[in-house]
Amino acid sequence: MDALTSSPLGWLCVGLTMLFGVTVLCTAKKSLVEKANVLVWSLLPALLGLLCMAVLGAGGGLVVFGVVCLVSSVYLGGRALLPVGDKAVLITGSDTGIGHALAKYLDSLGFVVFAGVLNKDGSGAEELRRTCSQRLSLLQMDITNATQVKEAYRKVSEKVQNTGLWGVVNNAGILGFPADGELLPMSMYRQCMEVNFFGAVEVSNTFLPLLRKSQGRLVNMSSMAGGIPLPRYAAYGASKAALSMFSGVMRQELSKWGIKVAAIHPSGFRTGIQGTSDLWEKQEKELMENLPADTRQDYGEDYLLGLKNYLLRMPEYCEADLSPLLSAVLHALLAKRPHGLYTPGKGAYLPLCIFCYFPVWFYDFFISKMLSTESAPRALRTSEAERKNL
Ligand SMILES: NC(=O)c1ccc[n+]([C@@H]2O[C@H](COP(=O)([O-])OP(=O)(O)OC[C@H]3O[C@@H](n4cnc5c(N)ncnc54)[C@H](OP(=O)(O)O)[C@@H]3O)[C@@H](O)[C@H]2O)c1
Repeated sequence: MDALTSSPLGWLCVGLTMLFGVTVLCTAKKSLVEKANVLVWSLLPALLGLLCMAVLGAGGGLVVFGVVCLVSSVYLGGRALLPVGDKAVLITGSDTGIGHALAKYLDSLGFVVFAGVLNKDGSGAEELRRTCSQRLSLLQMDITNATQVKEAYRKVSEKVQNTGLWGVVNNAGILGFPADGELLPMSMYRQCMEVNFFGAVEVSNTFLPLLRKSQGRLVNMSSMAGGIPLPRYAAYGASKAALSMFSGVMRQELSKWGIKVAAIHPSGFRTGIQGTSDLWEKQEKELMENLPADTRQDYGEDYLLGLKNYLLRMPEYCEADLSPLLSAVLHALLAKRPHGLYTPGKGAYLPLCIFCYFPVWFYDFFISKMLSTESAPRALRTSEAERKNL
């Protein structure tokens, strides 16, 4: 400690440390949502700075302290959130799940929320009407229906007038029936593309004139399956990969307008996305009806009828707490420097890293271990049994 207080430089260090600490504490006070983060990133450098000065002497300590402050300021600059003010945000697919929770969350933070719903008379819409503030407006909006999207645009532009719309969250999406890509009927591929990709593109392009006015944010709810290949997600994953690529290109193109674009790649969260048993039966029937006889024979009836067990077990692997996802969307909407990609949820980031930085064979091995299933198609079971008997 002597080194710290025995020279004018030491006192300067103490002064700067305190100034830095106070500045960041004031920032923390103003920031609505990220107090904990700001506190950690402000107190850490201050303490580290003092420690370094005590150990290394004033000169060396000052250098270390300066570097740590710089890193911390850059990080905090990125985390700093803009005020909510009267910012208006459109969310598609707010009937249930993530969109529904997001509409409530943003409403509770003071946003003017336009909640697009597939069914304005449904129970999800009714609950939003009942539980949210007067600021929230419901919009009938099937994103695959161009007339409904245009009508929603007309209503939103009328309401936001000159202030523009701050954000569009393309959340509406469908999962389809997770099964081997070879087994999925073409209608499933088309449906997934129609909702998850073309719908989101239509909404984005329709509402972009309003985002240009506000220099606002476009947030696309893609999926972990849109960034990495995952078995059973040929249709869903391909449609989400298209959405992620659209996001990336739009991020580059729209930056000249001051609009920031983010893609969200969540892992599994417990919502109604897996559908109901009625829907599974319908999807299973369609799948069975469209299979060529030899494919049906090779895979076997038990394998095919067991496909829906995956959907049945899905909630077990999914997180019930949606807050990491809600925070990611909020950051994308309000951070001064939002990320281009968010990976909320357990296990969303690691497989993406492995896919990006490791050889493909290693990624495939990793995924096969992570998602190993007990069941195998009949033809493979038979040949395995024959091999063992030889
Ligand atoms: N849950 C997860 O683990 C997870 C993981 C990664 C990505 N995501 C993505 O997150 C988004 C939200 O999913 P979620 O989990 O909240 O599932 P969800 O509960 O099924 O929510 C999807 C919402 O989109 C609506 N929708 C479906 N088709 C639509 C259309 N044509 N036009 C407008 N709205 C439509 C649904 O309405 P109905 O309920 O009336 O059908 C539903 O309200 C989706 O894009 C999904 O792909 C979810």
